[in-house]
Amino acid sequence: MCYAIPGRVVAIHERHVEVDYFGRRKTARNEWAHLRIGDYVLAQGGFVIEVLSEAEARETLRAWEVLFQELAETDARLSESALPRPGASPRIRRLIEPALEGRPLDEEAIATLLQIETPADLDLLYRTANHLRHRRQENACCVHGILELSNDCRCSCAYCGIAAPRRALPRYRLRVEEAIEAAGEAIAAHGFKALVLQSGEGAYSTEALSEIVREIRRRWPCLIIASFGEIGEKGLERLYEAGARGILLRFESSDPGLYARYRAGASLERRLAHLRHASAIGYLLITGALVGLPGQTLRDRVRDILLARELQPEMFSFGPFLPSPETPLAEAAAPPLREVLKTLAVLRLSDGGKGNVLVSTALETLDPAGREHGLLCGGNTLMLNATPLRYRPLYALYPDRAHAQESLPQQIAETLALLKKLGRAPTDLGLSSHSE
Ligand code: 5AD
Repeated sequence: MCYAIPGRVVAIHERHVEVDYFGRRKTARNEWAHLRIGDYVLAQGGFVIEVLSEAEARETLRAWEVLFQELAETDARLSESALPRPGASPRIRRLIEPALEGRPLDEEAIATLLQIETPADLDLLYRTANHLRHRRQENACCVHGILELSNDCRCSCAYCGIAAPRRALPRYRLRVEEAIEAAGEAIAAHGFKALVLQSGEGAYSTEALSEIVREIRRRWPCLIIASFGEIGEKGLERLYEAGARGILLRFESSDPGLYARYRAGASLERRLAHLRHASAIGYLLITGALVGLPGQTLRDRVRDILLARELQPEMFSFGPFLPSPETPLAEAAAPPLREVLKTLAVLRLSDGGKGNVLVSTALETLDPAGREHGLLCGGNTLMLNATPLRYRPLYALYPDRAHAQESLPQQIAETLALLKKLGRAPTDLGLSSHSE
């Protein structure tokens, strides 16, 4: 339901266009050969996904204009600079100030910020991340749909509730036509403009995935983000040809030792090569790591952030590890909420505030107020569950997933209410063309 507000094309470059939204200029990648200055377009994740008639665009714009201003005012109020923050330690202030100017954080600064414990310093960190989010991305909040096509998986990740060794879990796999229909419902009936298609690794052949993606793109304008694990270089190329433009694949842990311990038979090097190949093809990347894996050190967490930044993703996806029954880590503890929020805030500050920061469902599962906290600590994107209700309990990455019982309209209503309260517009306007 990420509403895309129509923008007017004001400049055309070789592969990019500049688009005006209520006087703000953004850039978007363009694959439409016939685009002209003055055309109205919808963009998602920095891609032009649809060209609209002027009448249609004007109608949507009229409906949005007043609300858009109201939301922007609320957000501006809630995201004022936290400086000076009485009670905050001078050492933390000295680290925060350059980050506010958009300067990247170095390894030691990231380590120090992740170790913050006092309420005043935490408050300064969170509010600064929120302020930077506002300055960089204004109040735009991307709300993507995620459709879990199958819980079949060939991997044996020790943390994961749908890993192959969990034999007691009933498996499901949507047929190609069912997958297309479910995507159509999310896009056409519920208004999603960007959809993540996800499954366990190896659940489908590349041919089946290509057909699903191609058919969805042929029938409905949308941004498709593929999340099928390591599908190989050929697989990446084939899905790009079919029309996928994003890849969601976490590297899970930047530490080769932890990675090998929890992902039997897999290699961090191979995963990173996969991500880099996707990026070279032109995919938008969504990537990140698990926060609080058993055995994870502070250094590991710092390096997770550095590695994520180095990959230059469109969106950071970090979420807490949550213990799943019938897995080798079933008895391990989840991390405290605060550690996840600090991670989101530091991610926002670490790269000058550029990347989108996802508030994950796992964070909401860890704490019912996790979504609101996450959005106020630097987060600006959400994913709503578009999987048919009957399959949701089987996509059991971890137990008691937030919103697993809620229909899509319920989730949308709840999300819109929260975004309204926080002054966020459920839009993805693409990339800001005016870097501060
Ligand atoms: N807790 C939290 N996140 C998990 N994932 C898998 N298992 C768990 C768990 N127990 C995440 C992984 C994977 C994504 C699809 O789900 O990071 O990349």
